[in-house]
Amino acid sequence: MHAITIPQPGGPEALVWSKVEDPVPGEGEVLVEVAATAVNRADLLQRQGNYAPPPGASPYPGLECSGTVAALGPGVAGWAVGDEVCALLAGGGYAEKVVVPVGQLLPIPRGLGLVAAAALPEVAATVWSNLFMVAHLHPGETVLLHGGASGIGTMAIQLAKAVGAKVVVTAGSDKKLARCKELGADVLVNYREQDFVEQVREATGGHGADVILDIMGAKYLSRNVEALALAGRLVIIGLQGGRTGELDLGVLLAKRAAVVATSLRPRPLAEKAAIVAAVREHVWPLIESGVVKPIIDRVLPLAEASQGHRALEAGEQVGKIVLQA
Ligand SMILES: NC(=O)c1ccc[n+]([C@@H]2O[C@H](COP(=O)([O-])OP(=O)(O)OC[C@H]3O[C@@H](n4cnc5c(N)ncnc54)[C@H](OP(=O)(O)O)[C@@H]3O)[C@@H](O)[C@H]2O)c1
Repeated sequence: MHAITIPQPGGPEALVWSKVEDPVPGEGEVLVEVAATAVNRADLLQRQGNYAPPPGASPYPGLECSGTVAALGPGVAGWAVGDEVCALLAGGGYAEKVVVPVGQLLPIPRGLGLVAAAALPEVAATVWSNLFMVAHLHPGETVLLHGGASGIGTMAIQLAKAVGAKVVVTAGSDKKLARCKELGADVLVNYREQDFVEQVREATGGHGADVILDIMGAKYLSRNVEALALAGRLVIIGLQGGRTGELDLGVLLAKRAAVVATSLRPRPLAEKAAIVAAVREHVWPLIESGVVKPIIDRVLPLAEASQGHRALEAGEQVGKIVLQA
């Protein structure tokens, strides 16, 4: 088969369309013929040599895919050759074939095509697990989403609105904020011009954000804690603004607030399977009823994955960049 390999870490040109060995499904795994995958920010880090795949994972990039089941490994029940699926992966999506642990497979939501479904598994699993399984976002609460126009942000806006939360987003341009508004965001903060702490306070009558989904890490740590409400939950899933920050524990203590940081990719199979099952139960019906949609900025050929990386690096996109095999 062909896959995007990274012979030498580097810029987008480090991604090379190469002939490689076909993967073989082991116990509890299926082989999927890939229809499409999508670009995630983590793929850029892997390409640069800064994010090694977890032990046992495919060496090729790609944290999600859609496609058709081509073979079943031993002990797989509930799926058949020919089934159309999408999947959460620990790697290997940038390829014509990939092996998937059975607990990470999802059916294609009714009404959606294979290519569109490739944009869903990583953002649905990340957002559902963090906003609801970790932060327990409730109807009527206020959530602050940094990077509202990102792949993660566009899914988070829709899911938070679907459960009846008030949504505050940050983005770096008014054009991107306008897209966030179309998706349902209530309060728009241009982080280049406005202070999100002030904007959150103003929007909540001084209450603050009950939940914050953060992708900036150190750079926003103290301001995020300032923006939290009493008993607020700050969940950090990205470190785009650095990993080492200063935290005033006095502020955290007075607010009885929590700071949590999580990462999906290296989690044990059983934890990923539980998250994928929750996504199927809670998110798939919202997609099938049209309440939540995959937000796709563009679809590029998989062999030209480097173009997708350039676009993501330049911050051109709103939502996801899909790569079609
Ligand atoms: N921990 C996990 O399990 C996990 C899983 C998936 C993703 N993630 C993380 O989630 C983040 C989003 O991932 P993605 O694939 O959706 O990437 P993406 O689409 O490339 O989004 C990156 C976002 O960062 C925003 N941003 C940059 N500087 C900012 C600032 N100062 N304030 C607020 N936002 C800022 C950008 O907003 P503008 O373009 O508006 O400037 C952009 O929307 C990444 O950090 C990724 O590593 C974590």
